[in-house]
Amino acid sequence: MSDQAATAAKPAPILSRHDPRYEVTMYRYVGVEGAHTLDFYRSHGGYEAAKKALTGMTPAQVIDEVKASGLRGRGGAGFPTGVKWSFMAPPDGKPRYLVCNADESEPGSFKDRYILEDDPHQLVEGMIIGAYAMQMTFGFLYVRGEYYLGTTRMEAAIAEARAAGLLGENILGTGFSFDITVHRGAGAYICGEETALMNSLEGLRANPRLKPPFPAAAGMYGRPTTINNVTSLTSAVHVINKGAAWFAGMGTDDSKGTKLYQISGPVKRTGVYEMPMGATFRELIYDFAGGPTMEPKAFIPGGSSTPMFPWEDRFLDMPMDYGTLAKNGSMLGTGGVIVIPRDKCIVDALYNLVRFYAHESCGKCTPCREGVGHWLPRMYQKLVSGLGQPEDIALLESVASNIKGNAFCPLADACIGPVQASLKWFRDEYEYLAANGKSKYAKNDWWQA
Ligand SMILES: Cc1cc2nc3c(=O)[nH]c(=O)nc-3n(C[C@H](O)[C@H](O)[C@H](O)COP(=O)(O)O)c2cc1C
Repeated sequence: MSDQAATAAKPAPILSRHDPRYEVTMYRYVGVEGAHTLDFYRSHGGYEAAKKALTGMTPAQVIDEVKASGLRGRGGAGFPTGVKWSFMAPPDGKPRYLVCNADESEPGSFKDRYILEDDPHQLVEGMIIGAYAMQMTFGFLYVRGEYYLGTTRMEAAIAEARAAGLLGENILGTGFSFDITVHRGAGAYICGEETALMNSLEGLRANPRLKPPFPAAAGMYGRPTTINNVTSLTSAVHVINKGAAWFAGMGTDDSKGTKLYQISGPVKRTGVYEMPMGATFRELIYDFAGGPTMEPKAFIPGGSSTPMFPWEDRFLDMPMDYGTLAKNGSMLGTGGVIVIPRDKCIVDALYNLVRFYAHESCGKCTPCREGVGHWLPRMYQKLVSGLGQPEDIALLESVASNIKGNAFCPLADACIGPVQASLKWFRDEYEYLAANGKSKYAKNDWWQA
């Protein structure tokens, strides 16, 4: 498929609705015609941050600036980016790698996609800055296989940057050399887990690796490696451009800067919204996304792996930051909010989610392979098909608690957290279904309503 054909096939954009109350940085040019070219990017201040870093700052100064900004990794776990960068051992003349994680396979998460498609040079610039800070010799960009247009745009941007002396040998005449290769993922959620991703890049099956050793000590090909999310790297561009104080001036005590929040489900304007950390769910759902189009009963706060909340003021008014979500028994994750309408049977919703995790379990460890891969989907299938018994709920709880914390990587817990949260908040729906053989809610297929 040509770049043009892929653009034509692209569904109507659902993204990048800006609200004048907040400064938009990473998503400035998303949705803008022609923004993916080097000419556009440069004529709008592009590559100035890379120039500033490479010509005016030492690598250690770049790391200190990112540390001072309070930027936390946007891939889900929220580990401080500058601290992660400082874990890399000093260069020893041998290869060291920067890996950008653009696998983005978690349901509800779609913020990275539009940077790859509409503002690819921003990511190239972020990778140059990260690579310079850690003195990397080579970069890999691991893109979700389905992101065809994003891949072609990234490849074109890298080629343009290389031709302009922004990648390759002796970048901007500074003596620093770095280049990037693009690798398309094969279509599995586990490929986004950083150690499985490295296996995949090395041509192996994407099973997670044991940690330690951590990637900073022994990553790609056994060499020091740092893996960062797309928007951790693009955030760094603006930290360098505008300074750590500017970034740290937005957000809450433990979460700084802006973040790309995504919203899907029955709301008026699904999409990606750039907001400062600490804006509330209510602002995102009502002010930005226009509010629910069906009576809601719950929302998932940060992508399918994060435990849901019932539709109550105390949760809607929570600031969307790492600390608040953790204190309330969930996670900010990728910031992908999913609204669940009242008429959707929660058990059926979880069956859908559990089947995803069962399909994506890599099979390496027993709790995930047998528990997530077989037990959970079968138990849910029994319940939703009306064959459940009241005692099945206790069994479901027991299976879930035996999986939790016992798997090799976080994929299994990413399934169990939502299962347990649904049991905590909507146990009545499970009980009704098990006792009556049918759901409380007739209209299960809300998306067809
Ligand atoms: C099953 C699974 C899937 C993941 N998928 C992604 C992903 O698609 N993109 C991403 O950036 N991080 C993903 N992560 C998190 C990565 O392992 C890693 O923490 C992240 O890329 C680090 O980048 P950051 O420090 O910039 O956040 C995933 C983790 C797990 C357990």
